[in-house]
Amino acid sequence: MRVYVPQLTKLAKPGQFVHVRCSSGLDPLLRRPISLHGIDYGKGTISLLYQVVGTGTRLLAEMAPGDEIDVMGPLGKGFTVPDGIKKALVVGGGIGVAPLFPLIHSLKHYGIQQTVLLGARSADFIIGREQLELLGVKVKIATDDGSLGYKGFVTRLAEDEISGGTPDYFFACGPNPMLKGLISLTKGFGLSGQVSLEEYMGCGVGACLACVCKSKAAAGREPDDSAEGFEYKKVCVDGPVFEASEVILDD
Ligand SMILES: Cc1cc2nc3c(=O)[nH]c(=O)nc-3n(C[C@H](O)[C@H](O)[C@H](O)COP(=O)(O)OP(=O)(O)OC[C@H]3O[C@@H](n4cnc5c(N)ncnc54)[C@H](O)[C@@H]3O)c2cc1C
Ligand code: FES
Repeated sequence: MRVYVPQLTKLAKPGQFVHVRCSSGLDPLLRRPISLHGIDYGKGTISLLYQVVGTGTRLLAEMAPGDEIDVMGPLGKGFTVPDGIKKALVVGGGIGVAPLFPLIHSLKHYGIQQTVLLGARSADFIIGREQLELLGVKVKIATDDGSLGYKGFVTRLAEDEISGGTPDYFFACGPNPMLKGLISLTKGFGLSGQVSLEEYMGCGVGACLACVCKSKAAAGREPDDSAEGFEYKKVCVDGPVFEASEVILDD
């Protein structure tokens, strides 16, 4: 879905999201967070890529061109591209590929080489392959059922890439088990990166605590749980993008 919001677009950065009111009535009551999948600064539009999983996304899918939509944003902290990166590994799982597109454009703009790994349960759920190839980006695919590309988890492809020694940084978004596997893998190789997390949200602006995730307690800070040494962060304002080394993902 492409949305004309010039004021919002001006401020938008890769990795941020908008909080979308999907209905003019009371169901669903809460807005739904959807990532910025495209940012067209020239045209003043953002694009959203979503998977229909419940009432909110179904209502979005029923909208027609020209309808008005209430979007709040841009929200959250997006990706930052650290200085000195030469080759990045970008890993997207399922619909998690959505926020990676503006980042991929940005990496291309900075002349940073990149390999994009896309993982999904089957070929039907692989999103964006053609667009990425048109951009001239190297894409590798993994599907759980082997219907396209490597049969197995995308983390296995990531392992091959990293053990091949080429990437010096990684970015990822996808389901928590994928991120968890990737964080543990990259830690073993000493590879730094950023991950974009998803949590159910209420307010989207840091007020309701619906979206907390665990983070390693910063040095000198009193942890929320002294036995475990973690503190809580809000995905909506402290994230959704975090340094991979700081997040703790539960099973
Ligand atoms: C920062 C961020 C960015 C996102 N970007 C995108 C995006 O770009 N594209 C996209 O498709 N999605 C994205 N999402 C996910 C999307 O916001 C959710 O899937 C959203 O809940 C869909 O709303 P819905 O009303 O269609 O479905 P919902 O009614 O919210 O239900 C979705 C599914 O989740 C289950 N569920 C609902 N509430 C809970 C709960 N509290 N605990 C466990 N399970 C629950 C439901 O049973 C159902 O299976 C993003 C989420 C975050 C946090
Ligand atoms: S959604 Fe309310 S604090 Fe994050």
